[in-house]
Amino acid sequence: MAIREIVSYTDKFIRKTSKPVKVFDEKLWELLDDMHETLNVSQGAGLSAVQVGVLKNVFIININGMSIEFINPVIIKKSGEQYKKEGCLSVSEPFNYVKRPKKITVKAYDRFGNPFMLECEDWTAVCICHEADHLVGVLYIDKICVPPLGKEEDEDCV
Ligand code: NI
Repeated sequence: MAIREIVSYTDKFIRKTSKPVKVFDEKLWELLDDMHETLNVSQGAGLSAVQVGVLKNVFIININGMSIEFINPVIIKKSGEQYKKEGCLSVSEPFNYVKRPKKITVKAYDRFGNPFMLECEDWTAVCICHEADHLVGVLYIDKICVPPLGKEEDEDCV
């Protein structure tokens, strides 16, 4: 395992669109293992492959000690809305509010190519939406908004 360098938002590579994973092999597992190590030392909540310089539809999240790998993820259902302050390991700008669905259903594959489906809400939903955006070159700073009165929530999420 190795810690990989995180691509900054000042590098236009971060805006590239990632491509589907076709082969679930040791190279993919090495990438995932390195991403876990990189995320752990950075103390972030999520990390996409593009952030370590690899244009593959891969991201991981780590929330409340729960770590999940998503390969070729697709968000198939969204409902409700929430406003939480987001940050990003690639972005050295202040945390800011982004509007996200309150609840989502995501379909993806695990590292062995087995499909799974996950229904989640709150922070987990925010984090998955944030990482899914990375796969199409979108950053939270593109989506900063002013939450409606009383809808803003104060904790931060990277
Ligand atoms: Ni990010």
